[in-house]
Amino acid sequence: MILLDGKKLALKIQEDIKKDVELLKQASITPGLAVIMVGDDPASRVYVKKKAEACKEVGIYSVVHEMPENIKEDTIVNTIKLMNENDSINGILVQLPLPEHINQTKILETIDPKKDVDGFHPFNMGRLFLDLESFVPCTPLGVMKIFEEYEIDLKGKNVCVVGASNIVGKPMSALLLNAFATVDICHIYTKNLSEHTNRADIVIVGVGKAGLITEDMVKEGAIVIDIGINRLDNGKLVGDVDFENVSKKCSYITPVPGGVGPMTIAMLLANTIKATKL
Ligand code: GUN
Repeated sequence: MILLDGKKLALKIQEDIKKDVELLKQASITPGLAVIMVGDDPASRVYVKKKAEACKEVGIYSVVHEMPENIKEDTIVNTIKLMNENDSINGILVQLPLPEHINQTKILETIDPKKDVDGFHPFNMGRLFLDLESFVPCTPLGVMKIFEEYEIDLKGKNVCVVGASNIVGKPMSALLLNAFATVDICHIYTKNLSEHTNRADIVIVGVGKAGLITEDMVKEGAIVIDIGINRLDNGKLVGDVDFENVSKKCSYITPVPGGVGPMTIAMLLANTIKATKL
């Protein structure tokens, strides 16, 4: 079994980004990222902090707009519009989830697609599904970089994606399809999940349910990518895969932490540089 070391790869990518930022700064351009965070979700707070720290580490300017849970939708819309017009801001990201009373689609559609470093705007999502140049959501893009780094060929492979969210499962499936994999997308209403996962050469799971993927659900020699991040009652951070037992059957597997998580952050930095160069 080979461990897919996302942490190591992310550090390598961040070193390259650092050099890119230095070159941009020599041309008097400082890449800038604006993050909007609404409410006080503890997980979102941790992610936003990590994103800001990573920006600082590579020399990207970042600003976090923190807004209270009861904020009016219009206030968020107006903040995004200001960022759209602000030349020192190249990338805009709205941390999800948003509170119930906020129309998420309206918020995401307000972001200028050229500054949409999360790739969640329907313009970018549509282009991704058509295999056209676009901003690609950071987590699925990070998974693709792991495949590239470890020379895992996707052409003709049976890939089972567990979780069909707009953030992970759907864009992940589009990227895999664009790479000519045969994609099976499973979700909460899928019957006999293990029938699907057991057929797969590659299982990619991101639903946020600790221990969902057990040893009997993957075939011998499968490649397993764990996108889940769950905190157990004892404080331990785990993915959606029963790592201890599943890893014994795998050819490759991502650990949690240290797998896909750091790649998500690295891809956000990469997308911010891409937006700056645009
Ligand atoms: N919430 C969970 N994952 C993400 C992400 O990748 N981007 C944003 N903006 N919010 C998230």
